[in-house]
Amino acid sequence: MKIRKAVIPCAGLGTRFLPATKATPKEMLPIIDIPMIQYIVEEAVRAGIRDIVFITGRNKDSIVDHFDYAYEIETVLEKKGNAALAEVSRNIAKLCNIITIRQKNPMGLGHAVLCAEPVIGNEPFAVLLGDDLIDSSVPCIGQLMDVAEKLGSSVVGVMEVPEKEVTKYGIVGGTRVDSKTTRVHTLVEKPVLGEAPSRLAIPGRYVLSPGIFDILRKTAPGKGGEIQLTDGLKVLAEKEKLFAYEFDGTRYDTGDRMGYIEATIAFALKRPELKEEMAKLLKKYVQTLPGEKS
Ligand code: G1P
Repeated sequence: MKIRKAVIPCAGLGTRFLPATKATPKEMLPIIDIPMIQYIVEEAVRAGIRDIVFITGRNKDSIVDHFDYAYEIETVLEKKGNAALAEVSRNIAKLCNIITIRQKNPMGLGHAVLCAEPVIGNEPFAVLLGDDLIDSSVPCIGQLMDVAEKLGSSVVGVMEVPEKEVTKYGIVGGTRVDSKTTRVHTLVEKPVLGEAPSRLAIPGRYVLSPGIFDILRKTAPGKGGEIQLTDGLKVLAEKEKLFAYEFDGTRYDTGDRMGYIEATIAFALKRPELKEEMAKLLKKYVQTLPGEKS
């Protein structure tokens, strides 16, 4: 079950971040000075994946440019004596091979994954969603790849969420195999309160068998009139085996404004050159809050 390719759906319109996303892909919005999509690609690369398949749409060309050389910027930086920054730019181009497929009519996440079939063919593959940043010492997708290899099966990453948040995610239900692993028997996309099979939510990390393609081809539109990956996975769990693994790591929902702000603060506090100033700033603003001493 060697995973060589990662699929990253990028065709979404990013309406939750309008007007910022009117002319800029939401994947290119930065957490500090690194676009969100770069963190996602780096997660896959750290797990040993070299071939990255972007499922793109109209107005997403800047994503692909970001992972190429930028000769003008790099040459100017060299001339100005800033070789280190030129190298930062070049290293992004060296990260991985980029393959793009256009999802001409976005019809949901399941449809986006199905678009990758001509590139993936008959081998297992990883899927990473760009709205979920996961900070962990062993990359989250790498943790799932290890489990998939050990169990010879498809695996979804899960995290326990508070009861009221189950409505935001694909939720799994099944039988515990060990403290972190569940054999999945059912899945529900964004269940209404009281109808979730558990509180184990999928924050956008999957290792899938190519069997999912045939299933997605036959999957009818579900929640929101879209072809849902979660609905396809429910059939995969019946036809093959599917496990859910509670990964180690901190997840940020960067598809949400507050999650995006939280990720920015958390990542700034981890950057050696920024953390002291960031801590000072936070203290300054906390003091101005009602009820805090000035
Ligand atoms: C998608 C999936 C959902 C998953 C979520 C993770 O939903 O459909 O199953 O839990 O991503 O972020 P979206 O948030 O794109 O509506």
